[in-house]
Amino acid sequence: MDDERGFESYVVVHNIAKRHNVGTLARSATAFGVSELILVGRRDFNAFGSHGSSSHLRFRHFHSLSDAHLFLKERDCDICGVEITDNAAAVNQHPFKKSTAFLFGNEGTGLSAKECEICDFFVYIPQYGCGTASLNVTVAASIVLHHFGVWAGFSERTRDGNKFVVAERPVKQVKRNFCTESADSIAEERKSRRENATNGFFDESEEGDSPSNLLNAMFGDK
Ligand SMILES: C[S@@+](CC[C@H](N)C(=O)[O-])C[C@H]1O[C@@H](n2cnc3c(N)ncnc32)[C@H](O)[C@@H]1O
Repeated sequence: MDDERGFESYVVVHNIAKRHNVGTLARSATAFGVSELILVGRRDFNAFGSHGSSSHLRFRHFHSLSDAHLFLKERDCDICGVEITDNAAAVNQHPFKKSTAFLFGNEGTGLSAKECEICDFFVYIPQYGCGTASLNVTVAASIVLHHFGVWAGFSERTRDGNKFVVAERPVKQVKRNFCTESADSIAEERKSRRENATNGFFDESEEGDSPSNLLNAMFGDK
């Protein structure tokens, strides 16, 4: 658990089909203080090898949803399915209790029965207009993550003019979460860097101006 904020949020990417949606999801995740983006199944995210974005968002990979579920339960997280279901609570009622991992549905089919099974509760976003049955998944994610940040009392980022101040790229990716003085933290940091490298999330040698580097394009835009 993050000592400063008390509660943490996670985004689980399991069945999101469109790559550009994963990139946009990652951008919103950094904006709304998400601790980790958890990729389940697919790990071919070389197109997301942006040095800059990886420094501000931690990625973790699991082969199966049950492995991800186990990890999140070990961290004492609730799993919140974001879906328009009968038993879902309106997200603006802030039905959160503790650190929470958010699971979003596929663009075409929504949350699957298997995904619903691991959810502790569901939230939906009330809609008021008559023209669409649902939102784009990344728009839905932004709204939900923002509400969680409000509920959890995350500190608002400092602004400078018309922008929020972007942090200096951390020298070491896990520095924020671990005391760098201890042997444990150094071991954890090395492990994390090794994992990130082997998972292919971040190509540290990549300069980031490759046209295939979607995240960098997204984070670097004005
Ligand atoms: C485009 S929607 C899926 C629509 C799909 N055709 C269906 O009917 O289930 C993609 C995902 O965005 C999220 N979403 C979109 N609008 C939402 C809303 N109003 N409340 C909660 N989740 C929403 C859900 O996670 C949903 O599975």
